[in-house]
Amino acid sequence: MSPITKDKTNWFFACKVEDVPANGGVCIKYKDEQIALFHFARRGEWYASQNLCPHRRQMALSRGMIGTQQAEPKVACPFHKKTFSLTDGRCLSDEHECAIKVFPVKLEEDRVYIGVGGKEGSVVTA
Ligand code: FES
Repeated sequence: MSPITKDKTNWFFACKVEDVPANGGVCIKYKDEQIALFHFARRGEWYASQNLCPHRRQMALSRGMIGTQQAEPKVACPFHKKTFSLTDGRCLSDEHECAIKVFPVKLEEDRVYIGVGGKEGSVVTA
């Protein structure tokens, strides 16, 4: 008999699709946490991560530039350009830097939801 597994992800409504600039990000407040939400329109994908850059503890990642590094989606902090993977949160530009937390994102029509408390690191394709 296989064990029953339940998805423990708690999805909260973040905003509407139109609230996020194409190929840019916004900051979403969830309880005491700031979450950076990105619409990677060039790839037709959405990502979310903590907004706090671990380098100098700046709430800045939602204002960072998104791009790719060897096909991996990433965000560069606007302060000192440290880059973080948007799929697993690890720092791509400095192996000694802390990783960031990433969250799954899902779309339902024009509504964007971010998942907290469950499996992290997945993404939706628009
Ligand atoms: S504060 Fe983000 S790279 Fe320095």
